Amino acid sequence: MRTYLVTGGAGFIGSNYIHYMFRKYGDAIRIINVDALTYAGNLENLKDIEERDNYTFVKADIRDREAIEKIFAENDIDRVVHFAAESHVDRSIVNPEIFVETNVLGTLVMLNAAKKAWELPDGTFKADKKFLHVSTDEVYGSLEEGDTYFYETTPIDPHSPYSASKASSDMLVKAYWDTYRFPMNITNCSNNYGPFQFPEKLIPLIINNALQGKKLPVYGDGKNVRDWLYVDDHAKAIDMVQENGRLGERYNIGGHNEKQNIEIINIILETLQEMLPDEDPRKKLVSKDLITYVTDRKGHDRRYAIAPDKIKEEIGWYPETMFKDGIRLTIQWFFEHEDWMKNVTSGDYQKYYEEMYKNK
Ligand code: NAD
Ligand code: TYD
Repeated sequence: MRTYLVTGGAGFIGSNYIHYMFRKYGDAIRIINVDALTYAGNLENLKDIEERDNYTFVKADIRDREAIEKIFAENDIDRVVHFAAESHVDRSIVNPEIFVETNVLGTLVMLNAAKKAWELPDGTFKADKKFLHVSTDEVYGSLEEGDTYFYETTPIDPHSPYSASKASSDMLVKAYWDTYRFPMNITNCSNNYGPFQFPEKLIPLIINNALQGKKLPVYGDGKNVRDWLYVDDHAKAIDMVQENGRLGERYNIGGHNEKQNIEIINIILETLQEMLPDEDPRKKLVSKDLITYVTDRKGHDRRYAIAPDKIKEEIGWYPETMFKDGIRLTIQWFFEHEDWMKNVTSGDYQKYYEEMYKNK
């Protein structure tokens, strides 16, 4: 049975990926999820699978070399899927250090532990071992309206401490291929949305605030463009790259779905109005009057847009979920998980896992 080591599996994309993998492979794989449970890690995201015999959670920090090496020593890991990171640009502007520590040094620890476990005495690697580093399109910097797209050949030109730290980790992973032929892939994906996304990011923040009649903060002129991808499509792409991608290669993943932030906000407000029944008191709260233009983010990248041509041509992946469908699925999920949102915004979920681990 193939064993996956997933880092950051208690976060937004990692937890969606774990759900996707169990839906796809069932009992045919084993997943070990290693997560430090920072503010962004939430074991509630994995509640429905935590009892599976082929799933194990390990609370550990990817910067902790001993803890990570122990996982490799005790398990025959076949696949690493490395999500764990500090992921929010606004936080990186206020506190860059932790971004370098987790995203750069943490990735180095993961690379070294995998290399140590997988390398043979002659410097080659055991057969069928693979490391996939999950990265972002933000490493390519910023485009202007009317410019072309980000391709795998676009020069790396990050602007925020977040994207600089991700770019640095990408380069380390690439260096391990160039130097050791370490069996790796890098994926650079555009903005994701979907269930379990922490409400500091644009889409869940707008849904959550609108339902409570709170202001909807729009940075700058609201015309910055992001290319939005439904998270399940990302999970599928990661699996396809890991299984069918050429080792040593980078693949861009994107939704072919560029939208200005203000368009996103308007779509969310309209969809909420359509989906809320007339008798729901929240329907009266949801209004365009909540839109509030605020001071722009420092160094705010204008436009991200991915050309996912290589992954389509080589691997056959393409984005399947139309934005109008994905946003309805996302809003429906938030309707059905009001407690999840209350817990993460009140900090109760931190208590949830502290309690849970006390009892284990
Ligand atoms: P997230 O912030 O929701 O989750 C990050 C997870 O990593 C959390 O569970 C957190 O507890 C864990 N973590 C953080 N520091 C850790 C450490 N030192 N040791 C162990 N675990 C740690 O992030 P996300 O949005 O799910 O993003 C996952 C990955 O995908 C990141 O590498 C990010 O750069 C990348 N990515 C995100 C997007 C997006 O739109 N969210 C797009 C492209 C790429
Ligand atoms: P975000 O979800 O933080 O993702 P990223 O910065 O990684 O692309 O932000 C998406 C876009 O929305 C970005 O242009 C910043 C903008 N934004 C707002 O206008 N208001 C907000 O409250 C947030 C969180 C983001």
